Amino acid sequence: VNIRVQTNCLNINWDYVTEKMIQANMGNRPAEIRKMAFENSSSVVFIFHSDLLIGFGRAISDGAYEAAIYDVVVLPEFQGRGFGKMILEHLIDTLPTCNFILFAVPGKETFYEKLNFRKMKTGMALFRRAILMKEKGYTD
Ligand SMILES: CC(C)(COP(=O)(O)OP(=O)(O)OC[C@H]1O[C@@H](n2cnc3c(N)ncnc32)[C@H](O)[C@@H]1OP(=O)(O)O)[C@@H](O)C(=O)NCCC(=O)NCCS
Repeated sequence: VNIRVQTNCLNINWDYVTEKMIQANMGNRPAEIRKMAFENSSSVVFIFHSDLLIGFGRAISDGAYEAAIYDVVVLPEFQGRGFGKMILEHLIDTLPTCNFILFAVPGKETFYEKLNFRKMKTGMALFRRAILMKEKGYTD
């Protein structure tokens, strides 16, 4: 199998990324906004299986000591084969001096625990769509 890891945003089909994020229940932001978010990120990872984009993720960072991970997705038919782990490890490796924070989709915490992430006891978030995020199970 031909697996390719791309660490820049060249030739990414943002409509496809947008569609896969909607299918993963990760929100319906438009393609140009997804493009802006990935292009403005410090690190991006896109995994291709032959020519098919099967997973991606991104990290934002100060480049010195703090970073955050967002938008990690593996296509359902390719889940459970280590690609999610591969995406996380690439993002973490690109920022070797940084701490990382993220919030998991409810139910996916174990995936991150296996990669040595730990639940934060004092994590606080200011969400623009606070009621929606509460309803989705992200906040108290
Ligand atoms: C979460 C997600 C990225 C995981 O990707 P994946 O490619 O299936 O994960 P991997 O195959 O790399 O799994 C790595 C390990 O985590 C475990 N794991 C993965 N998903 C899990 C889950 N939902 N619950 C418990 N364990 C899980 C795997 O069993 C594996 O364990 P092992 O190393 O002991 O074998 C993927 O399920 C996904 O894209 N989901 C939809 C979008 C989403 O929820 N994104 C997460 C945003 S926080």
